[in-house]
Amino acid sequence: MVVAGGTTVLASDCGCGGTVLPMSSSEPVVDVWSSEQVITCRDDAAGLRAVIAIDDSTLGPGFGGVRRRAYPSTDAAIAEAQRLAAAMTLKHAVAELPYGGAKSVIIDDGSADDRRLIAAFGRFVARTGGTYIPGVDMGTTLADMQLIREQGATAYCADENPSPWTARGVYAAMRAAVAHRLDADTMKGVRVVVQGVGSVGASLARSIAADGGTVTVADVDAGRAAALADELGGDVVDPDEAPFTDCDVFAPCAVARVIRMDTIGRLRCRVVAGAANDTLDTPECGPALAERGITFVPDFVANACGVIQVHGLEEGWDHDRLVAEVERIGTRVGEILTDASAGAITPLAAALQRAADRLAAARTTETKG
Ligand code: NAI
Repeated sequence: MVVAGGTTVLASDCGCGGTVLPMSSSEPVVDVWSSEQVITCRDDAAGLRAVIAIDDSTLGPGFGGVRRRAYPSTDAAIAEAQRLAAAMTLKHAVAELPYGGAKSVIIDDGSADDRRLIAAFGRFVARTGGTYIPGVDMGTTLADMQLIREQGATAYCADENPSPWTARGVYAAMRAAVAHRLDADTMKGVRVVVQGVGSVGASLARSIAADGGTVTVADVDAGRAAALADELGGDVVDPDEAPFTDCDVFAPCAVARVIRMDTIGRLRCRVVAGAANDTLDTPECGPALAERGITFVPDFVANACGVIQVHGLEEGWDHDRLVAEVERIGTRVGEILTDASAGAITPLAAALQRAADRLAAARTTETKG
């Protein structure tokens, strides 16, 4: 396993087992053995080609979303399913959720009938006997999850948008990082650049502004960025310039891999903390950020509140319990940053170690049992 930025970290980096995948996301070389299980699903009548990757089931059934999009090749689809599944293993382990890591992708060539396609996929999910639990991801909806359920599969489709909770968790993570790096108890006067002001980014920006922070926003949807800046009394920057804008905190909340080795030298922030998965292009970006004195909050720690909320809804948690879980993300980030400082390692390494420890403890319990 896994995973930083479209890429896979050496197994020895996280101690979680698995193998090494190539660094380049442009030419994926598939290693099916880096996941516990990879299932290819074909139904010609429905026009379905899909991949289910279960990365690691140590902590429980593999839970992870169904991504539906076009892929340049079958290998690209398999590689993405595996990479995303591995990231889910880390996210669940650090968030102390009772799930393994999994993800699935439906290769969408635009020709299939939606309902037949999803129903056919649901039948494959049912065959996993609950060892894979799908949820919503890019290109799929709650109605799709309902249809998957109707095929006899377990699927999570509680009717509540997780994005506001993801934003709350990211904000808790950001505050913890600000306390650690800037030695600031509040966000008053803290300058934050939010790249991508969709569901998560806009909500995050509102929280920051409400607490007295200064917000600069960027979005490829210029109108959306301008409207939010207007609402919050903030500025707008060009989306491509967002990472290089002078600020205290850079919050990537749009696309993956915005922190790259060739541009790290241009960053002008002290903290990177956002929602976007796969923020680092390659694992070397972690040490390179640390060398520049920039504190990086690993995305799989900061953005976990979405899955925590989905789990909570399935478990019947009330609002107070969810709020407590948000706060735990902040506590966790504080601990990870302290561990990193104490061990002279990067926050990414400290977070990977935390995931590895939880997996190892679960394996030990399993062996004793
Ligand atoms: P969204 O689709 O609602 O918003 C993304 C925003 O980014 C849009 O406004 C879009 O116009 C903008 N955008 C796209 N490309 C951009 C670019 N190059 N530069 C600047 N802006 C750009 O997505 P959402 O739900 O807010 O998610 C944001 C990020 O957080 C994604 O990377 C997602 O994978 C991640 N995430 C979201 C979770 C959730 O609960 N929504 C949970 C965990 C991670």
